[in-house]
Amino acid sequence: MNGTPEVRVLGVQMRDFRTYARAEAAIGAGLTVVYGPNGAGKSNLLEALYFGCTGRSPRTRNDRELVRFGAAATRVVVRLAEGVDEHELSVAFGAGASSAHAVKRMSADGAPVERLLDAPTRPLVSVFSPDRLELVKGTPAVRRAHLDQLVAAVWPARADARGRYARVLAQRNALLARIRAGRASAAALHTWDLELARGALELRAYRAAATDLLAGPFVRRAELLGCNGQLAIEYRPRSRAADAGEFVAELRERLPGDLERGFSSHGPHRDELAVTCDGRELRAYGSQGEQRLALLALLLAERSVIAGKRLRTPLMLLDDVMSELDAERRELLARELLAGGQSVIATTELAHVPGATDAAVARLRASPGAILQEAIAA
Ligand SMILES: Nc1ncnc2c1ncn2[C@@H]1O[C@H](COP(=O)(O)OP(=O)(O)O)[C@@H](O)[C@H]1O
Ligand SMILES: [Mg+2]
Repeated sequence: MNGTPEVRVLGVQMRDFRTYARAEAAIGAGLTVVYGPNGAGKSNLLEALYFGCTGRSPRTRNDRELVRFGAAATRVVVRLAEGVDEHELSVAFGAGASSAHAVKRMSADGAPVERLLDAPTRPLVSVFSPDRLELVKGTPAVRRAHLDQLVAAVWPARADARGRYARVLAQRNALLARIRAGRASAAALHTWDLELARGALELRAYRAAATDLLAGPFVRRAELLGCNGQLAIEYRPRSRAADAGEFVAELRERLPGDLERGFSSHGPHRDELAVTCDGRELRAYGSQGEQRLALLALLLAERSVIAGKRLRTPLMLLDDVMSELDAERRELLARELLAGGQSVIATTELAHVPGATDAAVARLRASPGAILQEAIAA
């Protein structure tokens, strides 16, 4: 397999994380089912897995919320295997007396790292949860950011394109504001326009390439999950420029308006990744159920694209997905998850996950503050 063995999550240890004072859970090689009543800590466990792998929570920007009530600090350790080697990622957060005193420390195999992105062995993680519906029904900015993350996951060397473009854009905006205030001349725009054009075309090309990879698998997953109507995703860039010169010309056309507003109105920071059903945008016209299925199809499609390109299947965390699906779709989803890679599903009813009691499936039972390992899959 190309010399890059899968990175597997073996387990997670939590210390003062949300409802857990001290708990640990082993994660199966394939599907792991976490079950228990509402409030049992299922979502908290999924959140800890994400936090331990990425250094941030998928639900909140405020790390203080993660610290167990009454405790001062939390720590999550994720154990990994890459081939025969074992590794460990750790994220510790101390709330301190105020946010100015909060401390977050991350490490990979005991060595401090600035970001877990820098950890040499790190699993990719994908999350399906009700919060993530924003991806389908939220503003274009949410989908742009997501598409850029996909670019980074598929081609790590292209991960910087978004930030590079954003920095030039900020410089150009600052210059526009100065020109508007009479403190700089419009001639100074020349260099920035060309710089912006280069970054814009690069980002557009990467986004288009990622969407090309994704479109087919998305349609197939949507069909498999029985979405009504013909689903599609389509990248809609603002600019039609064939080269940097043409992009600069597009910028020039809009210069009077840009000067009036004091910022750039044209470029990939205004692009859209449209998710449509029978040609209409699901964002505006989809029902909640249709949006959920489309999100699921999108995340599953991305996972297969990343697995194909990187030979690494992202760990998929699915929260509250089964309750809204009918029996047939549950079956189809379970089959897809059992086909490869690691996934963890949280559910109130074990019976909602087809095959949950099979020997190949790991089972965890959550009850407030504790996790009981019921079955460990090889
Ligand atoms: N920082 C925290 N400290 C202690 N308990 C918390 C903290 N944050 C959330 N909780 C509790 O976690 C419980 C919800 O856990 P959750 O994992 O969402 O349950 P579910 O099993 O339904 O997914 C709630 O009772 C909530 O009060
Ligand atoms: Mg929950």
